[in-house]
Amino acid sequence: MVLDNLYLIVAITEKSNAIGKNNDLLYFLKEDMNFFKEKTCGNSVICGKKTFDGFKIKPLPKRNNIVLTTSDFSFEGVRVFNNIEDLIEFVKENPDEKFFVCGGMSIYKQLIGYCSKMYITKYEEKEIIEADSHFPEIDEKLWKVTEKVEGKNENPKLTFYTYERI
Ligand SMILES: NC(=O)c1ccc[n+]([C@@H]2O[C@H](COP(=O)([O-])OP(=O)(O)OC[C@H]3O[C@@H](n4cnc5c(N)ncnc54)[C@H](OP(=O)(O)O)[C@@H]3O)[C@@H](O)[C@H]2O)c1
Repeated sequence: MVLDNLYLIVAITEKSNAIGKNNDLLYFLKEDMNFFKEKTCGNSVICGKKTFDGFKIKPLPKRNNIVLTTSDFSFEGVRVFNNIEDLIEFVKENPDEKFFVCGGMSIYKQLIGYCSKMYITKYEEKEIIEADSHFPEIDEKLWKVTEKVEGKNENPKLTFYTYERI
């Protein structure tokens, strides 16, 4: 089931789809952070508990923050879901709201199948980077690139891709 108002946003390395190491991001580049802000501000962001713990500012300002956890965690200004099914129901009940899946690895894997659009920043990867978290393979039978924009950053170079369902 694909939901029109459920998007995904992620930064991956271009060869190995690496997204993180030691519960942290691999890169913290202003150009990509600005892109993330531009897309997500004014909307809802969905993340796993580990990714939320890694945010430097919590909750992310100017966005409705949603956290998935199996624990009884609560945090002011954050909506918590204990399973994917209840979250999906909530997304369906709010068709005028845009929801962005923003990590980490476990949440991308569980929700990619429901997303209608993906914003993927690809980082140039001259040599395979060491990481412990990866994004799933993008199935080219299901997804097509509808926009590709070269970033300005050098070393690593960034490319901003938009994927939509075929
Ligand atoms: N490059 C990027 O764009 C990007 C973006 C975001 C994150 N990351 C990276 O991704 C890595 C973290 O990924 P991760 O997979 O280890 O952690 P994660 O997905 O952020 O969080 C995992 C936690 O989410 C909760 N959870 C997962 N599935 C659930 C479900 N179905 N129902 C309820 N709760 C659920 C569980 O929390 P409880 O244990 O509390 O139950 C689980 O331990 C970090 O390195 C981070 O920096 C990268």
